[in-house]
Amino acid sequence: MLILGLESSCDETAAAVVQDGRKALSNVVASQVDEHRLYGGVVPEIASRRHAENVVGVMREALREARATLADIDAVAVTYAPGLIGALLVGVNYAKGLAFAAEKPLVPVHHLRSHIAANYLAHPDLKPPFLCLVASGGHSHIVAVEDYTKFRVIGRTRDDAAGEAFDKAARAMGLPYPGGVHLNQAAAGGNPLAYKLPNPQIEGAPYDFSFSGLKTAIINLIHNAKQKGEALPVPDLAASFQAAVVRALSERMMKAAAEFGFQTVALAGGVCANSCLRETMENQCKKRGMRLFMPPLSLCGDNGAMVGAQGYYEFLAGNTANLTLNAYASLPIDG
Ligand code: KG4
Ligand code: ZN
Repeated sequence: MLILGLESSCDETAAAVVQDGRKALSNVVASQVDEHRLYGGVVPEIASRRHAENVVGVMREALREARATLADIDAVAVTYAPGLIGALLVGVNYAKGLAFAAEKPLVPVHHLRSHIAANYLAHPDLKPPFLCLVASGGHSHIVAVEDYTKFRVIGRTRDDAAGEAFDKAARAMGLPYPGGVHLNQAAAGGNPLAYKLPNPQIEGAPYDFSFSGLKTAIINLIHNAKQKGEALPVPDLAASFQAAVVRALSERMMKAAAEFGFQTVALAGGVCANSCLRETMENQCKKRGMRLFMPPLSLCGDNGAMVGAQGYYEFLAGNTANLTLNAYASLPIDG
């Protein structure tokens, strides 16, 4: 079965053709990063406009690379939530038009579910149940993936998402947009023990995160030094901040895996491209004899293939929509 996956929830316009939820026959991403860099972050209005300009070309290229035509496609899957509402609406409306014109089923896909499904493309042997850390620019969740379309949130951030914290800390360090990846690179030469940063625990919620205190702590460190006319070494700041975020994420994941009896764990979302997180989780899982699955770097960020992968399982579960489908800026993964 061939699914056309469309993604436009943030600043990538993406389309892919995916076979049986497991094999990407094409995966085309038009990134807007260069344009948003001018403003130091994603400008929603610009994102919507670029999606509208690019979506047709990206979809055509995805079909061409897969050597398929619309007639070969069994269903059109599209990200409908959560994300920037104007950006989502472009993809949803385009997918509705396409599905209607080509007389194909329309499959709405939750963005975080699709990030998890990126793992299915890279790991044919991965099947639910497993425990997944989903960390992106807008969300940080520990999710029990009970089945392909059945999820239970075990922990979540109380304030900033991990990616958001990386981006804001990077900005305070004077690193270019997008911050997370530059902070990761800057940390390579730094000392992770140079600065002591908080590791907040939330009473009664051992699997929840809080990154806002950590972000404020690093920003205050930088500003206080600036006021004294000092400049702190960016590699040490980056390494210390990265270590603190990775510790918060990995500690809770390992604790949750033990508590809920998971021997298989996975990572998903843009932040799982972080080399320190990948290494730390690899070491921790190895120590405990647990299996760890991670998407390759090319599938950690937003893309259409992950939408096609999750779309396949949503379609099998009968989760299709009609032309009244709407987009939602926020929507729980386990809804
Ligand atoms: O999943 P994603 O591509 O988009 C959203 O759904 O938000 O995640 C983007 C987030 C950004 O905050 C970005 O800075 C972060 O993932 N990110 C990283 C790295 N690569 C991307 N954070 C830390 N280290 C990285 N190497
Ligand atoms: Zn994403």
